[in-house]
Amino acid sequence: MTRHFLRDDDITPAEQAEILDLAVQLKRDRFAAKPLAGPQTVAVIFDKSSTRTRVSFAVGVADLGGSPLIISTANSQLGGKETPSDTARVLERMVAAIVWRTYAQAGLEEMAAGTTVPVVNALSDEFHPCQLLADLLTIREQRGSLAGLTLAFLGDGASNMAQSYLLAGATAGMHIRVASPAAYAPDDAVVVDAIAIATQTGGSVTLYTDPIEAVVGVDVVVTDTWVSMGKEEEKAERLAVFGAYRVDAELMELAARDALFMHCLPADRGYEVTAEVIDGPQSVIWDEAENRLHAQKALLAWLLAKNAG
Ligand code: CP
Ligand code: NVA
Repeated sequence: MTRHFLRDDDITPAEQAEILDLAVQLKRDRFAAKPLAGPQTVAVIFDKSSTRTRVSFAVGVADLGGSPLIISTANSQLGGKETPSDTARVLERMVAAIVWRTYAQAGLEEMAAGTTVPVVNALSDEFHPCQLLADLLTIREQRGSLAGLTLAFLGDGASNMAQSYLLAGATAGMHIRVASPAAYAPDDAVVVDAIAIATQTGGSVTLYTDPIEAVVGVDVVVTDTWVSMGKEEEKAERLAVFGAYRVDAELMELAARDALFMHCLPADRGYEVTAEVIDGPQSVIWDEAENRLHAQKALLAWLLAKNAG
């Protein structure tokens, strides 16, 4: 069975640690691994906009000795004329892996079910697992380890980032708090899965509606846009309910004294976070962005090795 990476819990706690260890090595020695030598091609498909994901996969595949093929759905047959599985059946004859940023998670599942090459989720409406590998790498660099740390995500609890934090954080043995308006709480099924993982790893999952309660004493404060891609039409109603979840200096004061601030970017300064916080001394957003490269290279190298034998 081909291993894919569609959700954060597609890898076990031990596998997550192994990938992060490899990311540390590849960050130290950027051109050490060439699993795509040939060069073999990796298809990187975008249904939505991207800066970091596009660049980090393009550069990462090249670093690994391969050749990235960036495809925009707008001028391909996928997303209208051809199904994800038919597309994958064609691509697998020519590429070593498929990376796809899309809307519904179901499309990724359909693609993965029908192909022999690994499929990687480069963001869906439900999850952003590649970002989480980079975020966990960043926290590990700052704190030495992950298990036992407490992290609060503030804002849209039903977003890909919040839901990925629940699964990936629980996998890492962290205590994950998500604070959101009740109407924007994470999906029940994701919460159930995260709790099941946390029970195994010694982590925990707690949902809040009060951002102040959620942030008290935490080691890491995270937020993300209140208006994810695909939700643009809901912008006015979202801005009306998320104001209390803005991360400002006053809220950061309630976290641990040396708490980190993280954001996957792009950020709407003045909305989900003030400029003072995102540009301040506790913010590690630029390391977080750079770590997309190292974490995804490790993921690709790991997946290719797993699927080779
Ligand atoms: N964080 C992230 O995925 O950024 P892009 O949308 O620029 O890829
Ligand atoms: N939650 C955001 C993340 C962007 C990288 C979105 O889906 O638009």
